Amino acid sequence: MLGVVTAVLFFVVGCAAWAMRGRSRRLSTRGAGRLIVLGGVVLPTVAMTALLIWGLPAGDALRNPLVGGKPFDVHVRGHQWWWEVRYPGTAQAPARDANDIHIPAGQPVRFTIESADVIHSFWVPRLGGKIDAIPGRANVLWLQADEPGEYAGTCAEFCGLEHAGMRVRVIAHAPDALPAALRAAADAAPQRVAIEATPRTAQERNAAAVALPPLERGAQPADMPNAQNPSEGAPAPEGTVASPSAPQAAPAQSGASQ
Ligand code: CUA
Repeated sequence: MLGVVTAVLFFVVGCAAWAMRGRSRRLSTRGAGRLIVLGGVVLPTVAMTALLIWGLPAGDALRNPLVGGKPFDVHVRGHQWWWEVRYPGTAQAPARDANDIHIPAGQPVRFTIESADVIHSFWVPRLGGKIDAIPGRANVLWLQADEPGEYAGTCAEFCGLEHAGMRVRVIAHAPDALPAALRAAADAAPQRVAIEATPRTAQERNAAAVALPPLERGAQPADMPNAQNPSEGAPAPEGTVASPSAPQAAPAQSGASQ
């Protein structure tokens, strides 16, 4: 590469020096036309085509770190509020799992991230950056766990009432231990999916939230303003000095005493 760059540099500097050498030889109109066609059309076309042929696989390598190799694929689909996990192309794996992702350690893994409802964001901080899970769109994220172990992750885009509980766990295994781990996961996977997928649509969640008993007003911490006197909602006016023994009451008179 450095050799090519050096050759191009010398060629350009040589052309410039030749052009500045003086007017000892004028080109004929025909010679000038030929120079323009060769140097302005043919040379750039050949050079750009060669660069394109060389650059396309290089660009693809940025997208896919395993050029030629077959990646380990994981499909992740966000739901309110859980992560559905599939392993296309891995026979031992659960057909569908919830919130647990088993991957081989020490190699790049291709995650395809989608959403079934609203925008979520898939994020396993110790493995890499986050990526949005968008309905109707498949986003690809390459992650690598260098060492076997557990890597906690979470949804990183507010997606409703239980957004904060939308956790995911990536479990990286030594490659020869992965098939057994996937088979073990497959045994319990239907149960995990059933628990996550059944009762928690947004409407059911909202209905459950409405049905909750109202907050007990007496449960406020004692050091909060108006804690002793919840019926008087107004905060104590500025300049009112509250002694620890006396509750901050009497907002009606304090305005006049200023
Ligand atoms: Cu899903 Cu926040």
